[in-house]
Amino acid sequence: MEIHPDLSELTFLLGVWRGTGDGHYPTIDDFSYWEEAAFSPGPGKPFIHYTQRTKDAVSGAPLHTETGYIRPAGAGRAELVLIQPTGIVEIHTGSVSDTHLHFRAGVVETTPTAKDVTDVERHIEVSGDLLRYRLAMAAVGHPLETHLEARLVRQIPSPWDRPTPPNG
Ligand code: HEM
Repeated sequence: MEIHPDLSELTFLLGVWRGTGDGHYPTIDDFSYWEEAAFSPGPGKPFIHYTQRTKDAVSGAPLHTETGYIRPAGAGRAELVLIQPTGIVEIHTGSVSDTHLHFRAGVVETTPTAKDVTDVERHIEVSGDLLRYRLAMAAVGHPLETHLEARLVRQIPSPWDRPTPPNG
């Protein structure tokens, strides 16, 4: 697939990642989760489609899921737009440095029945085939505090994920 040249600083993210994370917040019990995240380039377009889903590491029950787009915004800069089924929309501006992304929400919008979230900060760091991220949020009356920390491993593409060549 043709990858748009403006994505050159962000290609370290591409692929499917799986692993585990830990969740915290002053108002809830600690929890652990399984996660699968995928970052795929827009076909010839300057964006990366991001999607993730999670399950409780103990019960296997589905937890959070979210989807959005990362947009290159000039040298060393990127933007992130993200929606959650919990009624939360995040709009971030951020920086790209080597294989580290740092996003801080300029805007968080919530639907009338969603939990109150006013700020989100996301750090993503890739080292080879290991992706670590941290997410802090200001929510339900608390200032920015860590909600999530996770470690994901890049998955080897399966031959069944690729189109079959004409005489293959
Ligand atoms: C890996 C992704 C995530 C997982 C596994 C996860 C999981 C959880 C769990 C298990 C809870 C406690 C039970 C509940 O209220 O449902 C919770 C609460 C919450 N989460 Fe997350 N979450 C994730 C991402 C996010 C994100 C991205 C945001 C917002 C930017 C968010 C905002 C909240 C809020 C506001 C609460 C409620 C806190 C309270 O009511 O005191 N979560 N999350």
